[in-house]
Amino acid sequence: MDKTAKLFDVWANTGRSEDMEKGHGTTVNQFLDKLSLKENFTFLDIGCGNGWVVRKISQKPSCIKAVGIDKSKMMIKNAKSKTLSEKENYLVTDLETWHTKEKFDVIFSMESLYYSVPMESALAKVFKLLKKNGVFYCGTDFYSDNHLTTRWVKDMNIPMDLRSEKEWKKMFRNVGFVTRSKHVIDQKNKSKWKREFGTLFVIGRKA
Ligand SMILES: C[S@@+](CC[C@H](N)C(=O)[O-])C[C@H]1O[C@@H](n2cnc3c(N)ncnc32)[C@H](O)[C@@H]1O
Repeated sequence: MDKTAKLFDVWANTGRSEDMEKGHGTTVNQFLDKLSLKENFTFLDIGCGNGWVVRKISQKPSCIKAVGIDKSKMMIKNAKSKTLSEKENYLVTDLETWHTKEKFDVIFSMESLYYSVPMESALAKVFKLLKKNGVFYCGTDFYSDNHLTTRWVKDMNIPMDLRSEKEWKKMFRNVGFVTRSKHVIDQKNKSKWKREFGTLFVIGRKA
């Protein structure tokens, strides 16, 4: 089995998917709560973990379908067990090898894309999965400007693609996205990197 999926299976079985829900929640919720999403949108979360963002988004009346994919079987098992609405769908699959004809209005991903090394082909797949004018919201705490998080490569011991904010944006533009970025910090957090740099959201629109 893929080393990344194997590690996240262990995390899912030891309560760490809920730790991520809490740990990522402060900046991600701040970010998501400010988005104005169009009527009748379809949503995809890549690397959805225990599905907390899929559940949150599927509660919006204007969301007609919310799909979560994750390459970890155990993460998807957790997500399915927490389902709140019929709009939610969960699937065990790798982004890169997922065969689907479906296209989405909104794609989201938090702390997932950089496990595809290098990221370019995964990002090209995201571009394909979007409808015209669709938007990809990609959150990352792991980027080289946020220097206190760069040691995670050693701690995790799985492939991770470290880029700077500038490189992230360039990669998005090269794939064809109209690109911007935003930092969301967590002012009261005890971790210095969350207070000073926070989560980088790279936002790509398929014009
Ligand atoms: C750090 S966790 C983040 C989970 C969730 N987004 C959250 O914020 O709680 C990364 C997740 O992405 C999944 N993942 C990594 N690479 C993936 C890929 N190429 N395709 C599908 N899932 C992937 C992992 O299995 C893991 O569950």
